[in-house]
Amino acid sequence: MEFISFPKDFWWGAATSGPQSEGAFDKKHENVMDHWFHTKPEDFFQGVGPDVASDFYHHYKEDFKLMKQCGFNSFRTSIQWSRLILDFETFEVDEKAVEFYRNVIQEAKNNGIELVMNLHHFDMPVELLEKYGGWESKKVVDLFVGFAKRCFELFGKDIRYWTTFNEPMVIPEAGYLYGFHYPNYKGKGKEAMQVIYNINLASAKVIELYHSMNLEGKIGIILNLTPAYPRSQSKEDLAASEFTDDLFNRSFLDPAVYGKLPERLIKVLEKDGVLWEYTDEELEVISKNTVDFLGVNYYHPKRVKAQDHPENFKTPWQPDQYFEEWFWPECRMNPYRGWEIYPKAIYDIAKNVQDNYGNIPWFISENGMGVEVEEKYWDEDGNVQDDYRIDFYEEHLAWLNKAMKEGSNCFGFHAWTAFDCWSWNNAYKNRYGFIKVDLETQERTIKKSGHWYNELSKQNGFYYDLKEGE
Ligand code: BG6
Repeated sequence: MEFISFPKDFWWGAATSGPQSEGAFDKKHENVMDHWFHTKPEDFFQGVGPDVASDFYHHYKEDFKLMKQCGFNSFRTSIQWSRLILDFETFEVDEKAVEFYRNVIQEAKNNGIELVMNLHHFDMPVELLEKYGGWESKKVVDLFVGFAKRCFELFGKDIRYWTTFNEPMVIPEAGYLYGFHYPNYKGKGKEAMQVIYNINLASAKVIELYHSMNLEGKIGIILNLTPAYPRSQSKEDLAASEFTDDLFNRSFLDPAVYGKLPERLIKVLEKDGVLWEYTDEELEVISKNTVDFLGVNYYHPKRVKAQDHPENFKTPWQPDQYFEEWFWPECRMNPYRGWEIYPKAIYDIAKNVQDNYGNIPWFISENGMGVEVEEKYWDEDGNVQDDYRIDFYEEHLAWLNKAMKEGSNCFGFHAWTAFDCWSWNNAYKNRYGFIKVDLETQERTIKKSGHWYNELSKQNGFYYDLKEGE
């Protein structure tokens, strides 16, 4: 057994998001998820929507106490645009929402927990989608900057870590290419490319604004960096993996860190006539306003090969003509979520940030294992014996630690998630929390993994039997 130790002041915590935890509270506007649920409840696992979620709105005090008992020194959530703002054009705010977010900030402080506040977690107000086209529209980019300004004015002195977006790539991917999030479009490749560009612009504009306000804090972005491993070393498979990396990782990572969208991707999009609309002034904003730190969400890798039928993806234009997802028969799976478990990828990501992105300060902002029917693992007292989750985290942390020993500048680890929370259309199918939430009673109980996390945080490390390569 070896003690895997982490640096002093390392962040131990977890993330959630406003729409997945708070419940509807003082809702004056619907975000896209609220709207999707109210128009098509059958799309949601067991017909459960976001109206109550984990009722963080009423339980935040208790939740912070429990998070403290799980050893947290930091925690991320998000401010909901559709809850804070009453009027999207004048930026008038809802005082009840202001009071709630102030209480959350205060309670984090009372418990000695550093709050990371995110501004967008897939929760576009549906009115802005209907009226202007959501992230396809540059008008909406400016309305988002106005919302961010309000947040900084109201809470900027009390929060030291901000992030502009969570997993921005999921918005074009899930909403425009593959249809698994509202507005559930499929195959809208050209529109998806404009969305990528507009969100990059929005992030840069918000960073510019934040820095201009001289607040004593830092601002970053949370990206899902999913390595794209090729099926083979053939020229075709390698090209597919490069394209996948350019589109799904680098189209946000490069602008965030270097202020530039990837050249190789731009060339392909130009050749195919689907490049986003841009101006030189906007490119200048993107180039000058990069992040202070990076958050990386990692769950599973992508495995890709050359596309066998590119002709199927030409009209309308879809990026899939350049790659195809490939299932590695030997992979280890989390059967509940249907995601591959591949802990070494966290090392590959860490080294990529170190070697190719100036070793910018970064942290793991989400990593976790969702398990269905966790009741199976309750003991006679109703305590969740989630050893699988502990094993999952230990393996990932061992690989992360190896990269850090080799110099990768990682300053923290946030799991997904603190207390079981609602998940888009999967609702409460897969549980991820350190803290069990009973949906009938909203009663909270710390799981075995929560107690383990507390020990890990107290000792700033854990004893572990290193496996080959780790
Ligand atoms: C990330 C998101 O993609 O993964 C979270 O930031 C999400 O919002 C988490 O809940 C887990 O994925 P899922 O789909 O199982 O909830």
